[in-house]
Amino acid sequence: MNIVTIRREPALSEAMERLRAEVLGCLLQPSLDAFDDRSIHVSAFSDGRPIGMVRVTPSTPSVLAAWAADEWKLPVGNDIAELTRGVVAPAWRRGGVYRLLMLEVMTGLRPDEVRMATAAVEPDFVGRRFLESLGFRAEGEPQVFRDAPRQATLAVPIWTEVDLGQNRRWTLMLSQLREELAAQGIAVAVEPNRDLPASEAATQDSKHPRQGSTTPFTRYCALTAVPPTICRVP
Ligand SMILES: CC(C)(COP(=O)(O)OP(=O)(O)OC[C@H]1O[C@@H](n2cnc3c(N)ncnc32)[C@H](O)[C@@H]1OP(=O)(O)O)[C@@H](O)C(=O)NCCC(=O)NCCS
Repeated sequence: MNIVTIRREPALSEAMERLRAEVLGCLLQPSLDAFDDRSIHVSAFSDGRPIGMVRVTPSTPSVLAAWAADEWKLPVGNDIAELTRGVVAPAWRRGGVYRLLMLEVMTGLRPDEVRMATAAVEPDFVGRRFLESLGFRAEGEPQVFRDAPRQATLAVPIWTEVDLGQNRRWTLMLSQLREELAAQGIAVAVEPNRDLPASEAATQDSKHPRQGSTTPFTRYCALTAVPPTICRVP
């Protein structure tokens, strides 16, 4: 049985950055940006190597508004989670890793703190039907995003509400997916957060001002912690 481990990383390691840059086709330029430090990178690992990631960022300020060449019209604020930089390593594609990461992301959003998740996808994005099954819908026409290191990407704004009903549905979908993966010989383990200890976080704050200890960012880290073994599929 292969084991895929899910971790919620507060920082992008070199290997994670390399995978992202490779998938974005920008190996010569770093894919790091000012939002990486303010985000949680929900990541999948196999044999210690990253195989996929989705970045979750509270939209204060908004990644998508910063990238949009024209106005970003969906709501922004403390209670909005923006999902960007979804990537899966070529060798692992078509096996459900993106679905797994997205369901881990969505079930980690607490309805009492986050009311909406937003993103933007290319019009012919292969995962659109799956995102619709999560509840995402398009809002408006495709628009240009200057999502460096890419120059300009045409993408459609999408959003879904985050509420208790959705949370229950995503939890069920996640457990069905884990069973599906187990049948294919992949066990999913979820490791506890590797959030920064308070002392380190204080040091980091002075270098990269985060938003204090009660922002959704920090609470997202704290509240999605799970014991290391409970999610292991036999
Ligand atoms: C898009 C990407 C993340 C999908 O990762 P993945 O692990 O292969 O996706 P999954 O196996 O979990 O499949 C997710 C959905 O996409 C569909 N899908 C994935 N790759 C597909 C392909 N090449 N052709 C058609 N459908 C595809 C799956 O059928 C599934 O949809 P369904 O549930 O409706 O059947 C991956 O191909 C990638 O990294 N692409 C480059 C970066 C990118 O486009 N990122 C998206 C940013 S929004």
